[in-house]
Amino acid sequence: MNCVPISLGDRSYEMQIGSGILKEMLGDITDRAMFVVDDKVMPLLGDKITVGSGQGLLTMFASEMNKTMPSVEKIWDAMLDAGLDRSSSLVAIGGGIVGDVGGFAAATYMRGVPLIQVPTTLLAMVDASIGGKTGVNTKRSRNDGTAILGKNLAGAFWQPKKVIADVQMLQSLDTRQLRCGLAECVKHAMLGNAELLTFIETNASAILACDLEVLERLVFQSASIKAKVVSRDEREGGERALLNLGHTFAHAMEPMPELGLLHGEAVSIGLVAAASCSEALGMVSDGFVDRIRALLAKLGLPIRMQAELPALDFISMMQFDKKNQDGQMRLVLPEGECGATISSNVDLATITLALRSVGAS
Ligand SMILES: NC(=O)c1ccc[n+]([C@@H]2O[C@H](COP(=O)([O-])OP(=O)(O)OC[C@H]3O[C@@H](n4cnc5c(N)ncnc54)[C@H](O)[C@@H]3O)[C@@H](O)[C@H]2O)c1
Repeated sequence: MNCVPISLGDRSYEMQIGSGILKEMLGDITDRAMFVVDDKVMPLLGDKITVGSGQGLLTMFASEMNKTMPSVEKIWDAMLDAGLDRSSSLVAIGGGIVGDVGGFAAATYMRGVPLIQVPTTLLAMVDASIGGKTGVNTKRSRNDGTAILGKNLAGAFWQPKKVIADVQMLQSLDTRQLRCGLAECVKHAMLGNAELLTFIETNASAILACDLEVLERLVFQSASIKAKVVSRDEREGGERALLNLGHTFAHAMEPMPELGLLHGEAVSIGLVAAASCSEALGMVSDGFVDRIRALLAKLGLPIRMQAELPALDFISMMQFDKKNQDGQMRLVLPEGECGATISSNVDLATITLALRSVGAS
């Protein structure tokens, strides 16, 4: 078993990563608690979960449409019905959606109760379960008056007490979902870990075949990168914003129903768009964008949008990004061999070109 420390003073915690560790680790949770479980994961748990006295269980259908306040209210209600108080825990077992919604419910129930994250998708293991960001989507209007989801626009920072990642859970994961997590691993590697980039390039087939040893190493290395960044900048005052590499583009693409993109797929295209911006601005060496494109394609991730939508539609969505300050769009852009920087003066022509390089009109 591997252990990744997240060092945040009195809010420090550990992420335990292993293969086949879930039964024992869930069995250790004997205090009063509400288990919030992804409804696709529930049947996979079998005897790994036992709900004892003073504990409750609620399943949740994981979809972005369901990542909203009514789902949080359902969890509060279930916790009240189970008689849980401020000292009780919430255990969120599932992908990033259950983790974010469950986390927000934990952050707000009786002004905050202890949270244990049990991520069951690769994306949640290497990203969503670490760092304490919790939240829900809100409704937003498009230029044509139709409603779309405003991604993660309401939420709270609420660090878990513990994160338990059992890579065996990844074996039941749909390949499309596994790939989504790989987009975040590539993002972490692009932020400054050349060794991880090479590891993913070399082990792409073993990863996609769910080799447990390789997955454990991948999760450990990738989670360690996020843990280090979060430990240095818990509230995204500076460095943590770098973890949004590719995400400003992705958050504009993900809600467009015409594109049919999952979060990680949008991130994959967003990484290419961000790298293209850097190339246009001379911030990366020749061949960098091609290397990233080739790696994402090797992993079976999209590197272009399949429907042609106007670049302007994405730009108007990007203007609502939470990183923006004083009306100025701030983009995280790759820089050098492996690294990134936050840039607030990228001109609209460069952004438009980058969007066109990934299929916008
Ligand atoms: N809080 C953060 O820091 C953070 C970071 C990145 C992403 N996110 C959020 O995470 C969400 C995406 O998370 P996700 O990619 O894990 O998606 P998800 O939670 O939607 O899960 C993907 C699908 O896999 C199913 N599933 C989960 N575990 C499974 C398993 N072991 N076997 C089979 N099926 C399983 C789910 O039911 C769902 O259908 C987005 O809402 C995103 O905004 C949050």
